[in-house]
Amino acid sequence: MWESFVLLLACSFGVCIALDTITITQPIQDSETIVSAGQKFKLGFFSPENSSDRYVGIMYNLPGTAIIWVANRERPLNDSRGTVVILEDGNLAVINGVKDMLWSTNVSSSSANSSAQLLDTGNLVLTDESNGRIKWESFEHPTDCFLQYSKLGASTTGSIKITSWRSPSDPSVGTFSAGLSLSQIPQLFVWNNSSPYWRSGPWSGTAFIGIAGMASANYQVMDVLKDNSGSPYVTYNYVDTPFFYYLLSSSGHIRSMFSSGKGDWTINWSSQLSQCDVYGKCGPYGSCNPKGYPICTCLPGFKPSDQEEWNQGNWTGGCIRKELLQCQRNESASREDNQDGFMNLTHMKVPDFAEPMAITEQECRKNCLDNCSCTAYAFYVGIGCMQWSGILIDSEQLPLDGTNLYIRVPNSEHDTKRGFKVAIASTVSAAAVLLALCVCLCWKCIAKHKGNEQQAKLSRMEEVHKVEDMVTVTMNQAKFEKLPLYTYEALANATDNFHSNKIIGKGGFGPVYKGKLFDGLEIAVKRLSNSSTQGIEEFMNEVMVISKLQHRNLVRLLGCCVEREEKMLVYEYMPNKSLDAYLFDANKPNILDWRRRVIIVEGIGRALLYLHRDSRLKIIHRDLKASNILLDEELKPKLSDFGFARIFGGNQDQANTNRVAGTYGYMAPEYAMEGRFSEKSDVYSFGVLLLEIVSGRRNTTFYSDENELSMPGHAWKSWNENEAAKLIDPAIFDLGAITEMLRYIHVGLLCVQESAKDRPDVSAVLLMLTSEISNLPRPKFPAYTGRIGFSEKSSRQRAYSINDISLSSIEGR
Ligand SMILES: *[C@@H]1O[C@H](CO)[C@@H](O)[C@H](O)[C@H]1NC(C)=O
Ligand SMILES: *[C@@H]1O[C@H](CO)[C@@H](O)[C@H](O)[C@H]1NC(C)=O
Ligand SMILES: *[C@@H]1O[C@H](CO)[C@@H](O)[C@H](O)[C@H]1NC(C)=O
Ligand SMILES: *[C@@H]1O[C@H](CO)[C@@H](O)[C@H](O)[C@H]1NC(C)=O
Ligand SMILES: *[C@@H]1O[C@H](CO)[C@@H](O)[C@H](O)[C@H]1NC(C)=O
Ligand SMILES: *[C@@H]1O[C@H](CO)[C@@H](O)[C@H](O)[C@H]1NC(C)=O
Ligand SMILES: *[C@@H]1O[C@H](CO)[C@@H](O)[C@H](O)[C@H]1NC(C)=O
Ligand SMILES: *[C@@H]1O[C@H](CO)[C@@H](O)[C@H](O)[C@H]1NC(C)=O
Ligand SMILES: *[C@@H]1O[C@H](CO)[C@@H](O)[C@H](O)[C@H]1NC(C)=O
Ligand SMILES: *[C@@H]1O[C@H](CO)[C@@H](O)[C@H](O)[C@H]1NC(C)=O
Ligand SMILES: *[C@@H]1O[C@H](CO)[C@@H](O)[C@H](O)[C@H]1NC(C)=O
Ligand SMILES: *[C@@H]1O[C@H](CO)[C@@H](O)[C@H](O)[C@H]1NC(C)=O
Repeated sequence: MWESFVLLLACSFGVCIALDTITITQPIQDSETIVSAGQKFKLGFFSPENSSDRYVGIMYNLPGTAIIWVANRERPLNDSRGTVVILEDGNLAVINGVKDMLWSTNVSSSSANSSAQLLDTGNLVLTDESNGRIKWESFEHPTDCFLQYSKLGASTTGSIKITSWRSPSDPSVGTFSAGLSLSQIPQLFVWNNSSPYWRSGPWSGTAFIGIAGMASANYQVMDVLKDNSGSPYVTYNYVDTPFFYYLLSSSGHIRSMFSSGKGDWTINWSSQLSQCDVYGKCGPYGSCNPKGYPICTCLPGFKPSDQEEWNQGNWTGGCIRKELLQCQRNESASREDNQDGFMNLTHMKVPDFAEPMAITEQECRKNCLDNCSCTAYAFYVGIGCMQWSGILIDSEQLPLDGTNLYIRVPNSEHDTKRGFKVAIASTVSAAAVLLALCVCLCWKCIAKHKGNEQQAKLSRMEEVHKVEDMVTVTMNQAKFEKLPLYTYEALANATDNFHSNKIIGKGGFGPVYKGKLFDGLEIAVKRLSNSSTQGIEEFMNEVMVISKLQHRNLVRLLGCCVEREEKMLVYEYMPNKSLDAYLFDANKPNILDWRRRVIIVEGIGRALLYLHRDSRLKIIHRDLKASNILLDEELKPKLSDFGFARIFGGNQDQANTNRVAGTYGYMAPEYAMEGRFSEKSDVYSFGVLLLEIVSGRRNTTFYSDENELSMPGHAWKSWNENEAAKLIDPAIFDLGAITEMLRYIHVGLLCVQESAKDRPDVSAVLLMLTSEISNLPRPKFPAYTGRIGFSEKSSRQRAYSINDISLSSIEGR
């Protein structure tokens, strides 16, 4: 046969290359398979256990079948005479021995010339060869599996859900499906037909907070991102093990499947760990506790709607209020002590139908109390205020994680129980509360120095005053997380008394020391010893911003210390220093090959996306540059230095500042010249960084000759002269990856365009880099943050860093 001839030919050169593509001239038959280029997945025929029916599917190329996708799931073949072919109309189809079509990609198409290629991601892609367009892909039509790089929830044609098999021996569509809900805060759901069967709880920016263990895991398990149209989707693409996927079993359980590569698939996690993981197990106003006996109880202020059924373990009827809320009664509730209050439940999976609000925790409580239809509220960093106004369903007491849930109860309830304090709307202004928090946060250790206490208190107040406007902005968005405090002694000991040979770098406001704590933990200590106003502001800013964030591509703050004049931040130690050390040092061996650079770019992009979008706070970093990218032991990037970062309020997307701070060469023109900053000014810096990473050259020197161009200018020139390939770092030049490298340069140029509104946002940048957006727009003229403008507009006093040290200055106010 012709196709075996091709195989033979391929094998005859010593290396046997299995084909990964089906074309009109290369169909496959029952005994044949195609294998993805990296040997990870194969497509072929199989029979499920206890069945003689034949199906076409994609599976891991490992012993023991782990089927991740099925083509003809509704119409099996009854013998081994099936074929997978490209039809005359260009569709991919499964046909049986008598040429009946059992399944096809069924896309209307003008061209017959197409091919179906199995990629190393497990995606089967049907491409129109005449124009290179993707007509269909299996990731957009999943069956019951959810793979790394695939998306659950978003699609160009309606939401993507996965649907279970009917039974382990029958791949046809079963009753269960899973996907993202369309509620205001994204939640992952499993549905049985159309009724909810399992719910993950709301997405916080780093975790689904109703899944025990997910928020406290120090790695991310999934990510929720937004596509171009703004609809959310779930994805995961950082799993280090190559053999890992999520499966919706025929019994309605989402399972993560894990293999060492020898065909031994094990279930690593399941959505159904206890009876409480069934949606609404305890009915309306009930709460489930898998360790309780019985597992169901009514929420505070409620009693079973049918005590007899309840006692027999039929909880579906749920609970009803024991007595009316104060606000529901007709008698006037003018007396202060006659108000409703809240019962505080800890470690809760919050009920379904949360309504998010962009207000502070205190406001959240007050707002709920003021509105009689509000039945409960909660506050979670990364989400903010959540309120409930209808029934409370699917609450659960979790063994860990979860959040505090405040249930509204009438006065008599919270008065009589265990001395529960009546919640009274705080009369203290939010700022004062914040300041108090702020003081607790970092200044607590001052108290230890009794001798100097009075003086310390004074200077403390001074410092606090200075950061006040920043604090109030922050306060409107979220609350502080508690930070561990380190004593001066411990840090001095860890760093050999801040010995100069322990200095490993310079941060925005002082030297950074390497240290080792008593327990052996390696740390990086950022020290601000000179108490300039500037430094303190940056210091406080950094504490506030980073203590609230958690992402695998952000450097982790372990704690802080403020004693007398000393102010220090303690970070996890990054053994591989910063990116610039590798990128620009010609004397170092080139350990950053292209793949590693791609991982670094993606990591930084994801960190930015998290700052701009995924945490509910919008944060503009303002000082993105190579020396602020630290590398961990695997050379994965972590963004650091939040001294200049700014938090944006709810709908704010741009701000002005008199204080232009950042690093020359990375600053967007509208920011450098007019002090306007936004997501797009970070995108500009990202673009410069991207060009530097591809070219391996730093080209941002301030003191440059009139004829020399900045990095963006230089890249733009090469691009227009069709010489962009010359920009590529000779150390990584590789013809095989050249298209990708050129695309990176292209995207870099899009990021550094003069006009901020022409620049793509970070989510688009990420899609462009991974080529999911194939037709990139032509870049327009870039901003040359060269000499232009600086000499003319010099009314503001400025200081710029030269390459790696960020400096800043304030215009006299
Ligand atoms: C296949 O049949 C055997 C024997 O009836 C049974 O033990 C096994 O569970 C079945 N497997 C599946 C996947 O149904
Ligand atoms: C298999 O299916 C074909 C077409 O549906 C039918 O003609 C044939 O009789 C079937 N063979 C068996 C063994 O059932
Ligand atoms: C192909 O799609 C059209 C509509 O998009 C539908 O009406 C038709 O039934 C489909 N055909 C098959 C074989 O699935
Ligand atoms: C399909 O298109 C490709 C690219 O345009 C071309 O090289 C090839 O000859 C075409 N094949 C057929 C069968 O038309
Ligand atoms: C799923 O729903 C059907 C009715 O639609 C019901 O008969 C079945 O028991 C449900 N399955 C589970 C596991 O709850
Ligand atoms: C799941 O896999 C990860 C990584 O291999 C491992 O650390 C974790 O312990 C596993 N969890 C379970 C429940 O097996
Ligand atoms: C459970 O209780 C509800 C009322 O609370 C009742 O309507 C339903 O029939 C009961 N179910 C069973 C199985 O007894
Ligand atoms: C409150 O007053 C309205 C009419 O003013 C009456 O219909 C209602 O029953 C009263 N509710 C209670 C709890 O007394
Ligand atoms: C609720 O309880 C938790 C744990 O005891 C506590 O940390 C939190 O401050 C309480 N909330 C209020 C408003 O009292
Ligand atoms: C009270 O809450 C409900 C539901 O969230 C909302 O529709 C209503 O407008 C609120 N009322 C006031 C006075 O805020
Ligand atoms: C400093 O560390 C040494 C051990 O390395 C220990 O013996 C000593 O007590 C520590 N000093 C202080 C002040 O904790
Ligand atoms: C930027 O790089 C180009 C090409 O390497 C070089 O000609 C130019 O002098 C550099 N400019 C600066 C300011 O270093």
